[in-house]
This record gives sequence, structure tokens and C-alpha cells, in this order.
Amino acid sequence: MTIDFAALPHDFLWGTATSAYQIEGAVAEDGRSPSIWDTFSHTPGKIAGDDHGDIACDHYHRWREDIALMRRLGTNAYRMSIAWPRVMPGGDGPANPKGLAFYDELIDTLLAAGITPSVTLYHWDLPQVLQDRGGWPERDTAEHFAAYASVVAARLGDRVSQWTTLNEPLCSAWIGHLEGTMAPGLTDLTAAVRASYHLLLGHGLAVQAIRAAAPGAEVGIVNNLSTVHPASDRPEDLAAARRVDGHTNRWWLDPVHGRGFPADMREVYGVELPERAGDLEVIAAPLDWLGLNYYFPATVTDDPRGPAPYARSVRREGVPRTGMDWEVDPSGIEALLLRLTDEYGARRLYVTENGSAYPDVVRPDGTVDDPERQAYLTAHLAACASAARKGAPLAGYFAWSLLDNFEWAYGYDKRFGLVHVDYRTQTRTIKGTGRHYADLIRRHREGVAKAA
Ligand code: IFM
Repeated sequence: MTIDFAALPHDFLWGTATSAYQIEGAVAEDGRSPSIWDTFSHTPGKIAGDDHGDIACDHYHRWREDIALMRRLGTNAYRMSIAWPRVMPGGDGPANPKGLAFYDELIDTLLAAGITPSVTLYHWDLPQVLQDRGGWPERDTAEHFAAYASVVAARLGDRVSQWTTLNEPLCSAWIGHLEGTMAPGLTDLTAAVRASYHLLLGHGLAVQAIRAAAPGAEVGIVNNLSTVHPASDRPEDLAAARRVDGHTNRWWLDPVHGRGFPADMREVYGVELPERAGDLEVIAAPLDWLGLNYYFPATVTDDPRGPAPYARSVRREGVPRTGMDWEVDPSGIEALLLRLTDEYGARRLYVTENGSAYPDVVRPDGTVDDPERQAYLTAHLAACASAARKGAPLAGYFAWSLLDNFEWAYGYDKRFGLVHVDYRTQTRTIKGTGRHYADLIRRHREGVAKAA
């Protein structure tokens, strides 16, 4: 499989991505308060193996070693998230100097290593105190989010230019409030729709807050999108695919692009939105870039008795799957990059996450070879370059993930890392895919140097 490196810009960002709760550990250190994920993961039966993020990859203490790993991979960018309960333990109100100091030093060290930080403000770890006051279904949470964004941007904005408000709001709203398999674990359509609204409102308010606190900031939002295919040509399945596209893609993209919340989906949910005059303009604040997290496509059939959006996924036989049982389809990432370009007029795009979990075997000599993950990476990068060749303004790719980490409800069993983590000893080992990624980055740079 060849990658059309020449289709990628010379200053392409080659990155890795992580998130705070999945790697940091140190949940009770230096003034951090519990988040909804601490509560959820400590609720028996919610997480495979009853795992939790108390220690995770111990990144809070080992971040220097982790930056050294990024240097060994040759990456020039790192997508990370800030833990809201670490920097503002009360949810609103005073900032925690020790929490801010941690990120301050991390950013300085990344920059000194020649690695551009890309900072996400919300990767699902809402302070539990705010959940106790109603969480995302309440409007106040959106306002508190903007206040927190302002504090972080004011502190780091002299060195960080790339900001993400929300990571995958779909998961926070639909999986956390409707399906119940992520924190806060609700199964309530009204709460889910209200949460989705306030997440996007919080995004818009945070865009304003970041721009006010850090002039020159480049702000975006990160969505996990899927290509959606009907299981058959039956009109019911075609309509189901349209609903799943609305639920997964349009509900999150349309309001941010000034198109409002899709009318067909408002009807499907049948829940009144907590709208106030002016909100839609706030939500549609112009962005500098869009982030795409892509993992797998969806093939769906009508399911009138199921939960909203009254459709369910159908398992296609004979197609390759990852260790998550997710279908491998690199054409999806290309299609979505082109859709964001053509349908939504994106001016700059990043693949902010893409990767695969497979069961890894550590050899007696300590090495980890992972040919399936390597093939997944190559095929998806080739599809990204193909989208760029066809006109998608792709400016960077962040592999998920730098490290094996806490994979939410799946616990530590599912490993997405370019770097293997032995959770007993916290030993880090670059996997075959990590070495392969370093090689691809080198090849792109050599092409750039030759063309100069
Ligand atoms: O681990 C997650 C990440 O937190 C958000 N995007 C998908 C990844 C893999 O499931």
C-alpha cells in the first residue's frame, strides 16, 4: 500500500493523541477533585474488570518520559486534554495553582522538544460537583465550561495556539445520557438531548472565551463521525440510515455551521430544546478548523422498538475487524474528509484521532510486533492522503494513541497505543507500529526536503 506523501502539506502535523483521564492517574493529588469518570469507574459493574483511572499510565509523574517517547517517534505535534477537575476542582470558582502548574510545565517541555501542543479542554471528565448540580442537561454547566476555558486559555494561551473545545460531544450526550455505558451513565432521552444542546452551547461560549483570553488562538471542535450505510434497499432501512446520519453526524455539524439543529432529528427525538434567543449564533461562532475522529463505518437497519434514533447496527460478515470488533474501512475516513470539505466548506481539517486496538503479545525479548495495527495505520493514512489529493485541506494526523491507556468501559484490556504499557511496572515499549509511524514521518520529511 503506497501513501501519496506529496499530497500532504510540507508543514503537516504528525502527532499522537491522548486524554487526561485515560493516562494521568494521580486522581487525588495536588488538589484534583473527582470527575464523573471517577464516580462511574468506581461503580461496580460499569467497567470491564472493574478497572478505573486511579493510576492509569501514571503520566502525571512520568510525563517527561512520555515526551521523550514522542521525540523518538519523530512526531511534531501532541494532542492532549486538560482535566477540568484538576485546574478548577470546584467546577466553577477559583483555579487550582498546582493543577495549572502541571500543564504549564508540560507545555513548556513539549515546546522545548519541538512538539506543538494541541489542547482539548473537555475530554469527558466533568467535575462531579457539577454533575451533582445537574451536569450537561443544565444550562449552567455550559457557562461554567466557558469560565474554565477562559482560565486555561489565559494561562497557556501565550504558548498554545491550537485549542479544541469539546472532544466527541456525541459520546458525552448519546453514550453518557442515552445509552448509559459511559459516565454519567443515564438512559434518558430528554436528558441526552438537553445535554447535547448545552454541550454545543458550551462549545460556542468557550470559543468566545478562548478568543478573548488568547488572541491569536486557533479554535476548533472534534467530532467522531461515521459513514452510514443502509443494510438493504428497503425504504425503512434507507430512512434508518438517514436517521443514524442525523444522530451521528448532522446533529453535531449542522448547528456549528449555522444551519441550526436538523429539523428531521428534532422530530425523531420529540424533545423540546432548551433554546434561548441568540444561542444559535453563539453555537455557530466561526471556527479555524475542524477535527475528525474516525474509527469505523456503520451499516444500519430500521428498529422501531429500539431507543432513538430507532435503528440498529448490522454486523457485516466477511469484513476485517479490530480487537474492538469494529469494522476496518479506510474508505470511510476519505469519504468523511471530503464530506467536511464539500458539504460543510471546511477550510482546515485535522484527523484528530484514528487508530486500532488489537491484542498485543510481548515477546520474551520484550518487543511487541503488531502487524494488524500497522496495516490499519498505513491504509488509513493512504486514504487521508488520497482525500488531500482530491482537495481536502488536511493539515495534520494524530494517531490514537501515544500509549495504551484506560479505554473507558473496556478498561485496560483494549490497547490502542503506538507504545505498549506494562501496567504492573509502567514500562513503556515502542511497538512495531510506533516504529513504522516514525518511518512514515521520516519519508514525508525526506520528500519535503527533496522538493525544497
Ligand atoms: O479512547 C477513545 C478516546 O477517548 C475517544 N475516541 C475514541 C477512542 C477509542 O475508543
